[in-house]
Amino acid sequence: MKKLFFAILLSVSGAVSIDSAQAQNVPLMAPTSVEVYKAFGEKPGLVKLMDDFMPRLVANPLTGPLFAPSNQEHIKKELVEQFCQVLGGPCTYQGQSMKSAHARLNINKAQFNALVQELQISMDAMDIPFRAQNQLLAQLAPMYRDVITVK
Ligand code: HEM
Repeated sequence: MKKLFFAILLSVSGAVSIDSAQAQNVPLMAPTSVEVYKAFGEKPGLVKLMDDFMPRLVANPLTGPLFAPSNQEHIKKELVEQFCQVLGGPCTYQGQSMKSAHARLNINKAQFNALVQELQISMDAMDIPFRAQNQLLAQLAPMYRDVITVK
């Protein structure tokens, strides 16, 4: 069910032009309501989510080779800010654009999907309501165009 939802988002989002928004780190869709941010447990909830998510990314054979040698604490911090912003929270993501952060990583679709799956597992483990999970996935889905650089 969740996978189907995400697959539909991915295919639909291909039609949207996002380059200029991405270049300025502007969220691709309007931020969700602050209620969604609350459903994630606000900042402490996002920090907890990242503490669960990052080890899963390191352990996954598709994403591990990129995350294991990376500055995991830094990425977790940036992800908290980014997710806080796209979930409608009181944050402004000031990290790199998705295009420049991932430009030299040679990420393919299978790796992108693996990251999304691990995120879903983490969100389930944190008991985040299904509807709120989907709101986050809807915000992240269009970013695939800037993250995936390898066919
Ligand atoms: C929607 C999907 C994704 C989002 C929202 C996302 C988000 C981010 C963010 C916020 C950063 C930190 C940028 C900064 O330092 O300013 C980052 C860095 C990074 N991401 Fe992603 N990412 C996504 C997909 C992926 C995938 C699929 C992989 C690999 C399988 C990946 C690997 C990395 C790595 C290795 C870094 C660190 C790069 C460096 O240190 O230069 N990301 N990502």
